[in-house]
Amino acid sequence: QELELKLEMLEKGGFDHFMLKEIYEQPRSIKDCMRGRIYPTKGLVQLGGIKEYADKLKNVDRIIIVACGTSWHAGLVGEYLIEECARIPVEVEYASEFRYRNPIISEKDIVIAVSQSGETADTMAAIELAKEKGATIFGICNVVGASIPRLSHAGVYTHAGPEIGVASTKAFTAQVTVLTLMALYMAQQRGTISNSKLVHLLTELDNIPSLVEQCLKSNDTIRVMSEQFKDARNFLFLGRGSGFPVALEGALKLKEISYIHAEGYPAAEMKHGPIALIDEEMPVVFIATKNSSYEKVISNIQEVKARKGKVIAIVTEGDTTVKNMADYTIEIPDADEIFLPLLATIPLQLLSYHIAVLRGCNVDQPRNLAKSVTVE
Ligand code: G6P
Repeated sequence: QELELKLEMLEKGGFDHFMLKEIYEQPRSIKDCMRGRIYPTKGLVQLGGIKEYADKLKNVDRIIIVACGTSWHAGLVGEYLIEECARIPVEVEYASEFRYRNPIISEKDIVIAVSQSGETADTMAAIELAKEKGATIFGICNVVGASIPRLSHAGVYTHAGPEIGVASTKAFTAQVTVLTLMALYMAQQRGTISNSKLVHLLTELDNIPSLVEQCLKSNDTIRVMSEQFKDARNFLFLGRGSGFPVALEGALKLKEISYIHAEGYPAAEMKHGPIALIDEEMPVVFIATKNSSYEKVISNIQEVKARKGKVIAIVTEGDTTVKNMADYTIEIPDADEIFLPLLATIPLQLLSYHIAVLRGCNVDQPRNLAKSVTVE
């Protein structure tokens, strides 16, 4: 038994939990995911797994993304990225809803299935259905050779390495990285982004692993801050644009491992319901980085403060405006808006991790949850 314990410690690489180890692996896993796929100085993205479909991508009218859980959140980020960069309309569907809805789908459509395990039953069924209707299926999976990559016509692996923690961390950021690469690849095929802009964006993307490294430096601050929130009963996570799926994922992480009820909302929707919940007991996490929705988010923060809510804000390095309003701020480095999800996710993973540890929860194996859901 002692040997088993030692072995486990070794596997955790000096970290207390697999989840923390996997959070810290992200600079490397994101780099592995991009390896051999981007050529920043040429402004070129190469995705060997889907290159056969380059022409189809040039002319496609619509993309449907199907997934479950955290992978569905990556899909929502993908919608934002593909529409923004390649100007292709995207729909994101829960695989479990899609499969029973008699969806309108044809051979003109491309369906992207996102799955860490590549074995999720609902996602597989959604693929089968779309395939029957003649759609082209791309898989974005982490586990090489799993069922979903085998069911798909083409695909791109995330190469994040094995993920042991039930709550997905590095697999999520790798999925977002692949979707970023796909969006830029589609933009390149369709000419929706100039080569000089691609050079600029790919140079920034190439540097994202070191910016993720910087995000991890907030770990101690976040651990200390977590003490204040470990007994909260509810949490709200708010963001706009691509910050909205980041908020959803932040709320899901907290729910999964700390059993605190949490909701993610588009910040502007707060006034249509969640605002009724806000009082001095309610922590509200804002994605309040300097991007196109910055000013709008600031007014949402003011609305929460006016109702005595406790504001934790993820801000761009050097920000002073939000710092003066929020109770707590966590800085992340500045980057182009399309890379925001890759950076803003990191502090939220750490926040849920530390709160769960302080509450004495089983972080790596939360109750009632499975790493891979192979039944309906
Ligand atoms: C389970 C896992 C989640 C995961 C979801 C989808 O619920 O606990 O972490 O996001 O399944 O799994 P997949 O392997 O398809 O990404």
